[in-house]
Amino acid sequence: MHLHALLQLVLSLPLTANAEPVPLFARQKQPPHDLAVTPRSDLIVPRARPDAPSGGYAPSVVECPKDRPRIRLANALSQAESEWLAKRRKNTVDPMIQFLKRAEIPDFDAEAYIKSVSSGDDLSNLPNIAIAVSGGGYRALMNGAGFISAADSRTPGSTDKGGIGGLLQSTTYLSGLSGGGWLVSSIYANNFSTISTLQQGRKDSSIWRFDDSIFNGPDLPGVFDTARYWADVAEQVRSKRKAGFETSITDYWGRALSYQLIDAPDGGPAYTFSSISEDDHFSAGQAPFPILVADNRPPGMKAVTLSATVFEFNPFEMGSWDPTTYGFAPTRYLASNFSGGVVPSSGRCVRGFDSISYVFGTSSSLFNAFLLQNITSVEGVPDWLIEQATNLLEDVDEKENDVAKYEPNPFLGWLNASNPVAHVTDLDLVDGGEDLQNIPLQPLIQPLRAVDVIFAVDSSADTTFSWPNGTALRATYDRSLTPIANGTLFPPVPDDVTFLARGLNNRPTFFGCSSSNFTVPAGGRVPPLVVYLPNAPYTTYSNVTTFTPSYPLSQRNDIILNGYNAATQGNGTLDENWVSCVACAVLSRSLDRMGTAVPARCTECFEKYCWDGKTAAQAGDVSIQGVVSGAGGEEYQPTLKIQDVEGEESGAASMIVGRSGMIWVCVVVAFVGLML
Ligand SMILES: *[C@@H]1O[C@H](CO)[C@@H](O)[C@H](O)[C@H]1NC(C)=O
Ligand SMILES: *[C@@H]1O[C@H](CO)[C@@H](O)[C@H](O)[C@H]1NC(C)=O
Ligand SMILES: *[C@@H]1O[C@H](CO)[C@@H](O)[C@H](O)[C@H]1NC(C)=O
Ligand SMILES: *[C@@H]1O[C@H](CO)[C@@H](O)[C@H](O)[C@H]1NC(C)=O
Ligand SMILES: *[C@@H]1O[C@H](CO)[C@@H](O)[C@H](O)[C@H]1NC(C)=O
Ligand SMILES: *[C@@H]1O[C@H](CO)[C@@H](O)[C@H](O)[C@H]1NC(C)=O
Ligand SMILES: *[C@@H]1O[C@H](CO)[C@@H](O)[C@H](O)[C@H]1NC(C)=O
Ligand SMILES: *[C@@H]1O[C@H](CO)[C@@H](O)[C@H](O)[C@H]1NC(C)=O
Ligand SMILES: *[C@@H]1O[C@H](CO)[C@@H](O)[C@H](O)[C@H]1NC(C)=O
Repeated sequence: MHLHALLQLVLSLPLTANAEPVPLFARQKQPPHDLAVTPRSDLIVPRARPDAPSGGYAPSVVECPKDRPRIRLANALSQAESEWLAKRRKNTVDPMIQFLKRAEIPDFDAEAYIKSVSSGDDLSNLPNIAIAVSGGGYRALMNGAGFISAADSRTPGSTDKGGIGGLLQSTTYLSGLSGGGWLVSSIYANNFSTISTLQQGRKDSSIWRFDDSIFNGPDLPGVFDTARYWADVAEQVRSKRKAGFETSITDYWGRALSYQLIDAPDGGPAYTFSSISEDDHFSAGQAPFPILVADNRPPGMKAVTLSATVFEFNPFEMGSWDPTTYGFAPTRYLASNFSGGVVPSSGRCVRGFDSISYVFGTSSSLFNAFLLQNITSVEGVPDWLIEQATNLLEDVDEKENDVAKYEPNPFLGWLNASNPVAHVTDLDLVDGGEDLQNIPLQPLIQPLRAVDVIFAVDSSADTTFSWPNGTALRATYDRSLTPIANGTLFPPVPDDVTFLARGLNNRPTFFGCSSSNFTVPAGGRVPPLVVYLPNAPYTTYSNVTTFTPSYPLSQRNDIILNGYNAATQGNGTLDENWVSCVACAVLSRSLDRMGTAVPARCTECFEKYCWDGKTAAQAGDVSIQGVVSGAGGEEYQPTLKIQDVEGEESGAASMIVGRSGMIWVCVVVAFVGLML
């Protein structure tokens, strides 16, 4: 175990001398889910709610509300989102002042500036911040978690010198896709928990226990074995089928993941995505607006292309801004009998279909096949399940494994002329990254949302060694030049060859820095500035393959820390001005709108981090940076950016930890270490 993990442990423990050490990861014989007796039960509390009326995974037919659910045109923000924004934007003012003050931009009075753009009710000049966390399985979850952890002022140490803590508290939107969607969902399903709390876990809970693969299931005292776990999952899915709804491999996939992502008995089968909207904290605007992304695979098509309709799920609505489907359904009433945008009097209303696990399972449906293929080789999986999986594999066309069915289709008979899914009873959604846009940017570049800056955390596995090469970002730029863009704007992004040759995939790069480089339609806004944060090796090799099913907790923590160090450039080790450069990116569009002079520090930052517009050929950089030439030719093989982190691997501590499973010993050693 590394020292940082120990420190986290130390910080989390009561400081009284006689406090009993808490065996955090010990497995003791105790009834599971006995929240009352677990010492840290106050830490992870459900935020989303088990509000499916069935009390379980099954959706239920309910009486339609007086105000019958409808589909609306995507020509405005929803009223619910607008009302929520009014609260959230105000709540970002103070954290933003604190964050910008800590960033210490010389000769710039951050407090006075933010106050000047936030007095009165019109907050349109206040920086509007978004964070997007890419797909890439557990790698994306962990690397993304490192960024969120660094940005969260509640993380111990994050507001010290060199930290970017408070950025999350200043953020309006937080989007996730596939593995990034697991991260976002897990945070919101657990009372907006901090990453360190999720890492720390809880006694008798399988939350974030990535060392036990979802194939084997949680290793909990007494009751839990693999067969029982799969029987539970199967029973949950069966209850949905019995209630009259189509099920697919996505249901199993989402349920299995939930045991790791939702800290509630049996992975919280009744938790819904829409219930996030009813949480007091969220509805008071005290956390960013979570959004997950999935793609439509049009009927009869096998491949998902850049012109596929992109769907988003948010706590209020599910739908698309694209000029194709161009409408939104209330998330809470998904699977009601919508037809032509309304639920006719003959149609029924349904609630509980928007299971949070079905939503994040949909966004990550690319992994369905992984589940199917591997389940058959795991010991302890009951025979009947293997049989079922094998049958599914044979029945389902391989190309269809990844589908999540939304039946009845909310957009049936909706905009018949333009909507490719207007005439199907079943809306097929697939993994949000299948169109190559592996960073969930579409929801954030909608002009209506007026986002100024996007922190785009990219954990894509593009290269041979599972590092990103800019393909995801480029895909969104390419899409912004096609008719489906429908008014969305995205800054120019070069091709993958340029990313590799110029090292843009190896360090933070800003895109779209100069707003004067854009021709903006009358009344329109310039596209957001994009702060691209590619997964790269800072303090550990975080390029684990996408289909690795389990991770020792030490490796999980190392990858999260690597993401943290990417977000902070090693707390300033690599660039002592990094925090102020992050602050400059936050301020940039707002300064332009206000006609305020750009501080000298920001000009320096932009010179250093902005893509200069040159391609590899134009810049004369032709070969891949950081290559190690091997038998297979040139390969991008970056090496660690930060070698010896002071204090890390302090010999005595790690030796003892290595030999002894008794955590309290480590704690004592770490305490002594701290005092020296
Ligand atoms: C969730 O966390 C907040 C603090 O972050 C706390 O005020 C609230 O009581 C928690 N919710 C529940 C249900 O415990
Ligand atoms: C977006 O698409 C809708 C539906 O086709 C259309 O009405 C609207 O004018 C488009 N918006 C822009 C900015 O092109
Ligand atoms: C409502 O949807 C269900 C499921 O697709 C379908 O079986 C039923 O016929 C629909 N009812 C009406 C009135 O559209
Ligand atoms: C999962 O399936 C893949 C592809 O079939 C295989 O390479 C891998 O070894 C399997 N993993 C496990 C844990 O069975
Ligand atoms: C749209 O198409 C459906 C059939 O799929 C049809 O029943 C409906 O009347 C059409 N709506 C309009 C407005 O043309
Ligand atoms: C970049 O990654 C994509 C996969 O996302 C791959 O198809 C492409 O060949 C890679 N580019 C280079 C130059 O290696
Ligand atoms: C940066 O600070 C965090 C939090 O204090 C710490 O865990 C991490 O090890 C530091 N990184 C480096 C490179 O020193
Ligand atoms: C400026 O805009 C042009 C035209 O879209 C583009 O080719 C160029 O790359 C942009 N420059 C930068 C630095 O983004
Ligand atoms: C991770 O990347 C390094 C090069 O940067 C490479 O040597 C190593 O094999 C990669 N690991 C995996 C699991 O791909």
